[in-house]
Amino acid sequence: MLKTKDILDEKDKRLKEVSSDVIFPMTKEDLHHIDEMVEYLTNSQNEELALKYDLRPGMGMAAIQLGVAKRYITIVNEVDEGEFETYIVVNPKIVSNSLEMIYVESGEGCLSINRETEGIVPRYARVTVEGFDIHGNKIKVRAREELSIAFQHEIDHLNGILFTDRIDKENPYKNKDLYRPI
Ligand code: NI
Repeated sequence: MLKTKDILDEKDKRLKEVSSDVIFPMTKEDLHHIDEMVEYLTNSQNEELALKYDLRPGMGMAAIQLGVAKRYITIVNEVDEGEFETYIVVNPKIVSNSLEMIYVESGEGCLSINRETEGIVPRYARVTVEGFDIHGNKIKVRAREELSIAFQHEIDHLNGILFTDRIDKENPYKNKDLYRPI
């Protein structure tokens, strides 16, 4: 079972790597990583289990956060109290996006960034993501609001980008009025 300490910290240079496309069939090892990622994300959003296993809560994880430079991501989105939707996307690509931009008003979070951050991370309000399931079948996901941000955040990881890289260093709240807070 994954623990918080198994997730790479922002100081780790591997998080800057651009991950490589997955070639099917996926290896047993990668499938095992995916199971562990989903398990971690699900447990971490359950208060009792998060406390019991000392898990930092998170809704998304990219393979590179475990030091695996391959293009797959997992997102576990709480749609209702205790009810979760799980997304596993291999070789994900954003194929279309809204013009409207949003940001997380309370600040974006990342399991690899364990500190307070300030500033705006502009994200598309809606995206369509194409990719593959674990068997190599094509899939398409339409995401909006928080889920849309999660997909953009995780796909950024595959390109070696952390959310803090997207915050303007000089003026963390630059162009705030152009974007809708959520
Ligand atoms: Ni992250």
